[in-house]
Amino acid sequence: MVSKMAEGNLILDEIMRRRSGKAFSSRPIEKDKIQSILEAGRWAPSCSNTQAWQFVVLEDKDILSEAHEALSRGNAWGKRAPLMVLVTAKEDGGCPSHGLPYFMMDVGLSVQNMLLQAVHVGLMGHPTAGWDEKQLKKITGVPEDYRIVTVVFFGYEGNMDSLDERTRTKEMKKSTRRPLDETVHWNKW
Ligand SMILES: Cc1cc2nc3c(=O)[nH]c(=O)nc-3n(C[C@H](O)[C@H](O)[C@H](O)COP(=O)(O)O)c2cc1C
Repeated sequence: MVSKMAEGNLILDEIMRRRSGKAFSSRPIEKDKIQSILEAGRWAPSCSNTQAWQFVVLEDKDILSEAHEALSRGNAWGKRAPLMVLVTAKEDGGCPSHGLPYFMMDVGLSVQNMLLQAVHVGLMGHPTAGWDEKQLKKITGVPEDYRIVTVVFFGYEGNMDSLDERTRTKEMKKSTRRPLDETVHWNKW
């Protein structure tokens, strides 16, 4: 359901339609769609254009099977997705301003770009933090000085019946957010 505000407003509509869904189909994703998602990721803004991110794209069936072993039990739904993108960065790879870890912001922006491009081409993307980083690094050869910040699953939406009942019930729930007036401070906090 598209809200009144999103009507006729493509970007807001796509932002509001994005969901971290779990019912993935194993249908392969066309190469040009994968490419467009990665392009969207690399065109994100970053602090002083440091582009702290490096993406490791897993689409080979054998590698995917190995990587599935590293998923937390709660993220077993990810095994159906035909594409996993490991978004990695060096902890000292971004701007050091204010003592804040800006590399995380760079990475976050690139991930959101990818998630929105996925919506745009009719796909679903789901970012996660539930997996064994050491194991994933060993399987994929991510260098020691890089951290895996998130693993994003991409794919077409599949059948809800593939999920266990508890997950399915959760999935049916409407996505919610805190209201704007509890989030925004105009002129003064
Ligand atoms: C950094 C990060 C880590 C997340 N880790 C997980 C995860 O391990 N497993 C999972 O099912 N969802 C994970 N999510 C998805 C969130 O639960 C989801 O974005 C949130 O509930 C809002 O729902 P929505 O994305 O459908 O709007 C993660 C999201 C982010 C941004």
